Formats: sequence, C-alpha cells, structure tokens
Amino acid sequence: NALVTKIKEQRITEKIQPVNVWVIDAAETPEYPAKPRKKLNILLGIFFGIFGGIGLAFFIEYLDNTIKSSEDVEENLHIPVLGVIPFSKIKNQRIENVVVDEPASLITENYRALRTSVMLCSAEKPPQTILVTSMASGEGKTTTAANLAFTIAKTGKNVLLVDGDLRRPRLHKVFNLENTSGLSTFLSGVSSGDILQKSSVGNLSIMTSGPIPPIPSELLNSVRMEKLVKTLSTKFDHIIFDSAPVLSVTDSQILTRFIDSIIVVARAGHTTYEAARKGLKILKEIEPHPIGMVINAVDTKRGWINHYYGYDGYCSRVADDS
Ligand SMILES: Nc1ncnc2c1ncn2[C@@H]1O[C@H](COP(=O)(O)OP(=O)(O)OP(=O)(O)O)[C@@H](O)[C@H]1O
Ligand SMILES: [Mg+2]
Repeated sequence: NALVTKIKEQRITEKIQPVNVWVIDAAETPEYPAKPRKKLNILLGIFFGIFGGIGLAFFIEYLDNTIKSSEDVEENLHIPVLGVIPFSKIKNQRIENVVVDEPASLITENYRALRTSVMLCSAEKPPQTILVTSMASGEGKTTTAANLAFTIAKTGKNVLLVDGDLRRPRLHKVFNLENTSGLSTFLSGVSSGDILQKSSVGNLSIMTSGPIPPIPSELLNSVRMEKLVKTLSTKFDHIIFDSAPVLSVTDSQILTRFIDSIIVVARAGHTTYEAARKGLKILKEIEPHPIGMVINAVDTKRGWINHYYGYDGYCSRVADDS
C-alpha cells in the first residue's frame, strides 16, 4: 500500500512540473549532406596540389648542386665560361662529329663560338697546345676535344688531335680508326714514328691512344712524351689533347706539363659545384691555369642557355665587343 501511494504521489508531481522544452523551428530534411564538403575539399586539393608541387620543385632545385648556367659558374667558380654546348637530342646523330655532319646546326654554331673564345683567350697568341679535361668521366671531354679540333681545322689550320686518355680511350672509335699503334706504343718505344692518321677533314690528323698500357701515368710522365710534344709543336698549328678525368687519376695533371692551355668541361645537371671546386683547386695548383670552362649538354628547354647562338660567356663577350 505504501508503495502504491508513493507511485501515485510521484505521478502527480510529474504532471504538476512544467516542461521547459518547446519547438522553435520544425526540423527540415537537408537537401545536401553536411559532410564531406566536396567543393571545399576540391578547392583545397587544387590549392595544395599546385602550391605544394611548386614548393617541392623549388626545394628539389635548391638541393640540386649541379652546374647549370654560365652566370652561376662565373659567380661561384670564378672561371670564365668559354662556351655553352646544348644537349643533343637528335637520334642516331653522333655528337662527336656534329661539326662535320651538321654544319648548319645550333650545336655546331656553339662549337664555333667556343673556338672563337679559345682563340681569343690567350693574351699574346692563340694557344697552340690545348688539354681538354673534366672532373669526372662521361662529362664530354672526348666530344668537346673532337668538335673543337674539327672547327679549328675548318679554318684552314693544321690541327692534331691526340688521345691522351690512356685509360678509357675513345677517339679511334669516334673516327673509326685502327688503334694497334698510337701514343702508348710510341711512348713505350714499340713504334718509332708513323703513328699519325688522317681524318675526314684533310688538315686534321689524329693520334690514337694505342693499346691501353699497364701504368699510363708513367708513360705520360716520360722524357719521350716531352720530346714528342716539342717535335709535334713544330709541325702543327694546334694540338688538342683528350684526357682522363682530373678527380680520378693524375694523368691530366701530368699532361699539363707539356701544354700551354687547359679547358675544363662540365656537364650541365651532372657536374656538381663541389666536384668542380675540387678539380679546379687541383688544376690551379699547377701551371698553366685553366683558361676557362665549357658547359656541355645544356638543356635548352629548361632555360639553362641564355643566348640563342651561344655567344655566351666571358671570352665570347670580349670577342663580340672587339
Ligand atoms: N652535348 C651533348 N649532347 C648529347 N650527348 C652528349 C653531349 N656531349 C656528350 N654526349 C654523350 O655523352 C657521352 C659521354 O661523352 P664523352 O665520351 O665525350 O665524355 P668523356 O668525358 O670523354 O667520357 P670519359 O671520361 O669516359 O672519357 C657520349 O655518349 C656522348 O655521345
Ligand atoms: Mg673520353
């Protein structure tokens, strides 16, 4: 009974108590879902996609420490840029012979500009013996040496191109020549003379490397080498030496003893400033100092080349002004 009375009392209290809840607005069924907010998400996606991508590209570019343009080289390495050679994309074209095969091409025009720079870079007379070297392998020493030799020969000068890279010689392949005798056989006394071969351009002669010797630096560092360069200098207007990379072996440094000009090749997007600094430090410790740098395989589409015909760089500017 007590329980029943209690329940009744409770019900009465519930009925007396006011209900503080009323309807302000009738609930409506939404037309669109509250989440996901597609438009906002798409806009945010586009925004972060574009600006994030651009930011990432700049960051990667910032981390990329490779040589790209002539301005950067002159500013960071304090060495004149003698020429800028574009990257050749033409299939089946042998870039090593481009000056002969494609005389009207942009690359040939740039090699001509390089020749002008080289010829005007020495104070008293054009350099007679030129060493073409680079920091590491595959940067374009052979390609530069061959095309430079061709362009100089095309001006009517008597030119000799020597394969001074006795470790990875390639000139005999470029010129399609026999390599049973050459510089190595002459220096080791196996052949006495007659080691010069003719190229497709009449006044350009080639001395191939000969078979690869066991210790190339010893052969290059010989009295016979000194005498050979002296004798050849009386017979040719210009002698161009292809060579081994500076940072790998000492062969190029040894060859500098016999020559009067050094040209350093750097490959755009490949040679790092760190490597270039190291190599140039080595070369600047010996005489003669490098006359300048050639930036090879420059990507023209990425704006790494400035002037259409490649009259670009310190020595070329001197040439243009005069
Ligand atoms: N401007 C260029 N455009 C396109 N390809 C190039 C260019 N210069 C060089 N190459 C190519 O790059 C490769 C390396 O060039 P090259 O043999 O001249 O370099 P290298 O410095 O002599 O190498 P190594 O140290 O092995 O002797 C070759 O296959 C050559 O055809
Ligand atoms: Mg080579």
